[in-house]
Amino acid sequence: MTDYQTHDHDVLVIGAGGAGLRAAIEAAASGVSVGLVCKSLLGKAHTVMAEGGVAAALANVDDRDNWRVHFADTMRGGQYVNNWRMAELHAREAPERVRELEAWGALFDRTDDGRILQRNFGGHRYPRLAHVGDRTGLEMIRTLQDHGVHQGIDVHMEVTILSLLMDGDRVAGAFGYDRERGRFRLFRAKAVVLATGGIGRAYSITSNSWEYTGDGHALAYHAGAALQDMEFVQFHPTGMVWPPSVRGILVTEGVRGEGGVLKNREGRRFMFDDIPENYRSQTADTPEEGWSYTQGDKNARRPPELLTRDHVARCIVREVREGRGSPHGGVYLDIAWIKERLPKAAEHIRRKLPSMYHQFKQLADIDITTTPMEVGPTTHYIMGGIRVDGDTQMSTVPGLYAAGECAAGLHGANRLGGNSLSDLLVFGKRAGEFAAKFAKEAHDTRIDAGQLEETAAIALEPFSRNGSPGEGPFQVQQDLQTMMQDLVGIVRTDSEMQRALEGIGKLGDRARRAGVQGNREYNPGWHTALDLPNLLTISEAITRSAIERKESRGGHFRDDYQDKDPAFGINVLVRKGAGGEMQLSREAIPALPPELKQIIEEMK
Ligand code: FUM
Repeated sequence: MTDYQTHDHDVLVIGAGGAGLRAAIEAAASGVSVGLVCKSLLGKAHTVMAEGGVAAALANVDDRDNWRVHFADTMRGGQYVNNWRMAELHAREAPERVRELEAWGALFDRTDDGRILQRNFGGHRYPRLAHVGDRTGLEMIRTLQDHGVHQGIDVHMEVTILSLLMDGDRVAGAFGYDRERGRFRLFRAKAVVLATGGIGRAYSITSNSWEYTGDGHALAYHAGAALQDMEFVQFHPTGMVWPPSVRGILVTEGVRGEGGVLKNREGRRFMFDDIPENYRSQTADTPEEGWSYTQGDKNARRPPELLTRDHVARCIVREVREGRGSPHGGVYLDIAWIKERLPKAAEHIRRKLPSMYHQFKQLADIDITTTPMEVGPTTHYIMGGIRVDGDTQMSTVPGLYAAGECAAGLHGANRLGGNSLSDLLVFGKRAGEFAAKFAKEAHDTRIDAGQLEETAAIALEPFSRNGSPGEGPFQVQQDLQTMMQDLVGIVRTDSEMQRALEGIGKLGDRARRAGVQGNREYNPGWHTALDLPNLLTISEAITRSAIERKESRGGHFRDDYQDKDPAFGINVLVRKGAGGEMQLSREAIPALPPELKQIIEEMK
């Protein structure tokens, strides 16, 4: 019999970044008991990597902004395969969520007349990103954490969930282990919210830290939930490329929002060379106009560096492939040039972008107030994820909710920068509210001990392979990351992705043979062995979905189908079949209601 510790909660929230914290706060406020599980320490979450701001149509800097423009921008950025109901709720509710956060103690930068300051970001028509220098996500986590600890939430730190427990077709809790002692934990719950973030660790170049192995996506999939549009992975255009030890660390879009420009090795601003038709009327023709825009000239149009992330990332890849890249395989991001335009430019850069200044000084010995940075795309975010109901955030499994990055829908084929932070506030709150409601109305569940025994036995298997000839899990993980980067990255083809599928099969065999040594206390090899099945599941889902979508749209670019195809204005769904195989289907997107359709038409 497996030995485990038991915890009882009405609502269990798995993941303690912004979405998980916001869900836990809301559920606790409605009077139910809440458990919050974090894979690492409370406060350490990818939320902090959304540095440049939270998008909300507050209209503090440009009074032409409102929820309708934000809605239209989000739909256009997502290339119209978004869940339009989520895009509507997000645009309508984001301002209230940001003001609420301020009331809870978040200290945003201010306009001269004392309101929350907003900056420009790619794809947003007006300055819309409320920010705290380049540490917005960090300030949000700090505020949510400070507020959350007073709500009576039980926090379980350094706990990894291995499986969701079911009572028939309904979720009944989760089973996992604590990383410190390696002991098992049973969480009984009437409703579960997944807020586990992304999948960045499936790729070798990523802004994500070690926790982001697609756990929520894989847990939901194995529990019978549908995943949606997993092919839409966001490669943020600007990560560090040098030195190798820091490759992939994020360089905030805020640099470009403050006037930073992209140049190739010839010193050319290559973003002017390729402006997509649907953004042409909004994009500056000259560097002068672009600079005026960043300085708040309402008649000017945005510089091409502030086009959407999918496009900017592809332009960078093109420059590098065609031999115009920087020495270490990126391009140059230059904010130092603004000294030609601004008195006290160095002071301005250090004040607006303090983290970037320190990051480059300490990690690359570069002073960004005098020297251009070398940057290139980095795997940052997945737009696809667990299919949810737009209003309640419930997945296709009763009692199982998802919010934040692990949920799909809001961002469609490409997310606009800053929409992740408003996403997690708006839909974290909604998930917490509706999970609590479900828990209050639900009757008790029964957990069959067989489910625990089976999960525990599988989890301990890597130890019994100890000493067998072969390899450990780290090599398998690294090979998977390299393969996904090379074959299912920014530019994709059918033949490469078929090779990736074959590779995933072989890596699965190797993962099942990989042994670990030592004991259960803080054993990184064992932890990696337990993360590997999730990475393999989501890599397969990404690859199969990317093969299925025979067109290019947003973050998904096919070299063999370079155009957008109206026939693919659909969602690609992934489900686990009865025999354990991965099944794909296409599903039409419900028609837009006339009032939302009109908004999109007007904004065009
Ligand atoms: O560039 C950034 O600061 C990232 C923001 C985001 O991903 O939303």
